[in-house]
Amino acid sequence: MERTFLMIKPDGVQRGLVGDIISRFETKGFTLVGMKAMTVSKELAEKHYAVHRDKPFFGSLVDFIISGPVIAMVWQGNGVITSARKLIGATNPLSAEPGTIRGDYGLTIGRNIIHGSDALETAEAEIDLWFDAGELIAWESCQ
Ligand code: CMP
Repeated sequence: MERTFLMIKPDGVQRGLVGDIISRFETKGFTLVGMKAMTVSKELAEKHYAVHRDKPFFGSLVDFIISGPVIAMVWQGNGVITSARKLIGATNPLSAEPGTIRGDYGLTIGRNIIHGSDALETAEAEIDLWFDAGELIAWESCQ
């Protein structure tokens, strides 16, 4: 079954959006198979965003991700990677459609509430980076 990695960023946690965000994926029909609240080490943040290490915003992105608690999650379901990206909306919240998480709650690209894996290989790598196998549960919704 397809899985994706989602992380509610420090701005989403600080603004009290955790419940709403989880609810959107639950009501869509996806299955939560792993979740933890955590503060992120600089090493983990740099590994997670390694693809952006040469970008001018890399330093501020890493500093932001380690600035406060995040909610790291693994969600499961048919087509969850693409569907989660649609529910999240465009990277820049000003371009994100109303009804998406970023479209409803965000204003700037550096404070865009949530991260979601963009492809199968990325999802697998990010799940491995953020979770030990024992932190994930095996279950499927009967709905
Ligand atoms: P995310 O989906 O977590 O993946 C990479 C992140 O880099 C992205 O969300 C944004 O938060 C951030 N990002 C992308 N482009 C910029 C930019 N031009 N300025 C600041 N942050 C950016």
